[in-house]
Amino acid sequence: MKVAIVGGSGYTGGELLRLLLRHPKVEVGQVTSDSMAGKPVSRAHPNLRKVTDLVFTPHADLDPCDLLFLAMPHGRSIARIPEFLVRAGKVIDLSSDFRLKDPALYREYYGVDHPRPDLLAASVYGLPEIHREAIRRATLISGPGCIATAAILAIRPLLKAGIIDDERLVVDAKTGSSAGGLDGGPASQHAERSGVMRVYAPAGHRHTAEIEQEAGGKIALSCHAVEAVRGILATCHAFLKDSVSTKDLWKIYRDAYGQEPFVRIVTEASGLYRFPEPKILAGTNFCDVGFALDAHAGRVVAIAALDNLMKGAAGTAVQCMNLVAGYPETMGLEFLGLHPV
Ligand SMILES: NC(=O)c1ccc[n+]([C@@H]2O[C@H](COP(=O)([O-])OP(=O)(O)OC[C@H]3O[C@@H](n4cnc5c(N)ncnc54)[C@H](OP(=O)(O)O)[C@@H]3O)[C@@H](O)[C@H]2O)c1
Repeated sequence: MKVAIVGGSGYTGGELLRLLLRHPKVEVGQVTSDSMAGKPVSRAHPNLRKVTDLVFTPHADLDPCDLLFLAMPHGRSIARIPEFLVRAGKVIDLSSDFRLKDPALYREYYGVDHPRPDLLAASVYGLPEIHREAIRRATLISGPGCIATAAILAIRPLLKAGIIDDERLVVDAKTGSSAGGLDGGPASQHAERSGVMRVYAPAGHRHTAEIEQEAGGKIALSCHAVEAVRGILATCHAFLKDSVSTKDLWKIYRDAYGQEPFVRIVTEASGLYRFPEPKILAGTNFCDVGFALDAHAGRVVAIAALDNLMKGAAGTAVQCMNLVAGYPETMGLEFLGLHPV
């Protein structure tokens, strides 16, 4: 399969390249960047030195291919999407341009009317754990947000089981700096970021809408910037309708994820890594999901951790590509991570 990446000089573009260059069934034909056109891709992604001779081509110079990955900032895909769909039969867009189904919700969270509501309806939210069969048949796949992926995978099983109050669900997310992209602005500069524990979105974060769309419930999301390059940790506070046991919770999560290749249930009685932790997931496509029962407060604490550039972006996108192409879902995504790291 011949693929190309539009917006390949950034963080998710680099991660896509890292995965696709070693994927046994894929040839990367083109990677675009205007700022680095003509330069070798290893200039932007030094981890790819001596791995490929690819050079960046300008964004406008796209040849036909079988599948196109879009790794551009929000708002850039929409205008060119008709051209992209002609150039490639299938498109996987990592931005938030096509994630929300409801145009009114898009206006509420992004402040403008969506110019192609027809494509909002036609696109598939690219989270295989929820939409596996639709992804296989999709033409336009919209990659989920990184915080949204963690929150959805943590709380959806509880909401589906009907055991929690769906009007009172608090998601507390911690985010590494690479989630802001290569040009994350002053907040990503070392002097401002180093040692940080900053509430950057106490309310109103755009991923709220995605989480509600895909998991259900009314979500109160607060986001924090922390001292990490990669990683999302979502700690979700769900209030029980009736009392449940830890055994009940195990069953709910096992039923949801027992067969999932990239979701692991992590709730241990002892040890350092008793609950999901992004540190040991760097570079992997795993989302670790765990839980703790707080009988005192009538609460379940649902926890999810992932690497924002992998299961939160490029990893899930490659997982979707595997589904579209009919390859084994885990192909090219087998990296197990490092410990210690
Ligand atoms: N970072 C994450 O953890 C994460 C997770 C999930 C989803 N996402 C989404 O993925 C997308 C890419 O994020 P990122 O972190 O990789 O961003 P990034 O590091 O800022 O990279 C942006 C890329 O987009 C290209 N670009 C800029 N304007 C463009 C245009 N008009 N047409 C085509 N390409 C253009 C840039 O190319 P030039 O070299 O020409 O500037 C660069 O290659 C965003 O929409 C983001 O919301 C990111």
